[in-house]
Amino acid sequence: MSVIKMVSLAVLGVLVLSDSIFAAPPDFQKDIQPLMTKYCVECHGASKPKSGVRLDSYDALIAKSRKQSVIPGDPDKSRLVMTMTGAAKLMPPKKFTPRPTTEEIDLIKEWIKAGTKNYS
Ligand code: HEC
Repeated sequence: MSVIKMVSLAVLGVLVLSDSIFAAPPDFQKDIQPLMTKYCVECHGASKPKSGVRLDSYDALIAKSRKQSVIPGDPDKSRLVMTMTGAAKLMPPKKFTPRPTTEEIDLIKEWIKAGTKNYS
């Protein structure tokens, strides 16, 4: 392998690595709140929230509760995610549209995994 080729491969490797290390994790206000507003807040807002579950603010979302737990670092055990994937009672309820896409659910998982950041 030529030196030039080796150097360019090394540079490429650093670029790829730094991209994944320095990419900012999802942010509540920018990335997560719009999804809640789009799919959940109609039934889980401030006024008569279904099941008492409120999803209309950061504090409400991370509030510790048996029903809606978000466990920072552990998306698969977070009920917020489990309802969306169907691992718990499916949300939004079955016949209700629109539904969050797989990519959107992945973004929420990513947000929880990174520790539920709220930079804004
Ligand atoms: C069309 C109305 C509606 C929408 C939209 C909706 N929900 Fe619900 N949600 C309900 C109702 C009704 C219940 C109570 C269900 C029950 O206890 O049978 C509920 C209950 C829940 C619970 C408690 C479940 C439990 O195990 O007790 C969670 C968590 C939840 N919803 C999350 C969400 C999330 C996340 C979204 C958006 C992705 C969402 N919901 C969208 C109507 C809705």
